[in-house]
Amino acid sequence: MSENNRVIVASGLQKQVIAPAANNASEILSILTEINLQVAAGVSVAITGASGSGKSTLLGLLAGLDVPTAGSLQLFGQELTQLSEDQRAALRLGKVGFVFQSFHLLEHLTAVENVLLPLELAQVKGDLKQRALTALDQVGLAARAQQFVTKLSGGEQQRVALARAFVTQPELLFADEPTGNLDRHTGQEVAALLFRLQHDYQTTLILVTHDESLAAQCNHWYRLADGRLHRQESV
Ligand SMILES: Nc1ncnc2c1ncn2[C@@H]1O[C@H](COP(=O)(O)OP(=O)(O)OP(=O)(O)O)[C@@H](O)[C@H]1O
Ligand SMILES: [Mg+2]
Repeated sequence: MSENNRVIVASGLQKQVIAPAANNASEILSILTEINLQVAAGVSVAITGASGSGKSTLLGLLAGLDVPTAGSLQLFGQELTQLSEDQRAALRLGKVGFVFQSFHLLEHLTAVENVLLPLELAQVKGDLKQRALTALDQVGLAARAQQFVTKLSGGEQQRVALARAFVTQPELLFADEPTGNLDRHTGQEVAALLFRLQHDYQTTLILVTHDESLAAQCNHWYRLADGRLHRQESV
């Protein structure tokens, strides 16, 4: 992997939190003990692991939403641990997208308004409405663009979330169990769409999933256990 095409370089990342213990005491909970990960541009990486193993915590760290207790983390060649929260947000803007298990759409907005938001936030120039509509068309939802998202099915809501994530053509996308709230068939459709968009836009994808058949479709697969990533071979 050449030095300059690495989107993520994590070395010795740790995350500890102070958690309540018995008798009103508190204890240090070590969620991630030693995370080493290098991700090249355009590849897909799956992370699986038991519930509570720290997958969402790890995504939060890698995305710079949360800060590690120790270790170093470079995102697009920038050492994140030396940046303020505002600087980390600026680095993410327009370059990093997210898809969550529970969709995280703004419920009082229509599908197209939801997809417009990241374009407006990133102060993208041009015909934003047209770009948002094109993104919805790519996920097969052009006809539902003016619908309030609460009226859409779960699978449709996640497709809106995919359109919203990809509309800025981010270099890096984090997906935390994007099919976790969907039935198997709908989940497979959403996953196929996710992989197609990732391929079309050459997006670097970090995918947390409980679905091993999805993990096996990624270029690399790691299992998180004991606060560490273990390379997993596809069978
Ligand atoms: N801020 C916090 N304070 C205390 N405990 C925390 C905090 N954040 C996470 N944890 C704990 O750390 C562990 C890992 O949480 P995390 O949400 O990362 O797991 P996960 O692998 O994403 O699980 P799931 O598959 O259920 O989503 C859990 O035991 C959780 O309760
Ligand atoms: Mg989680």
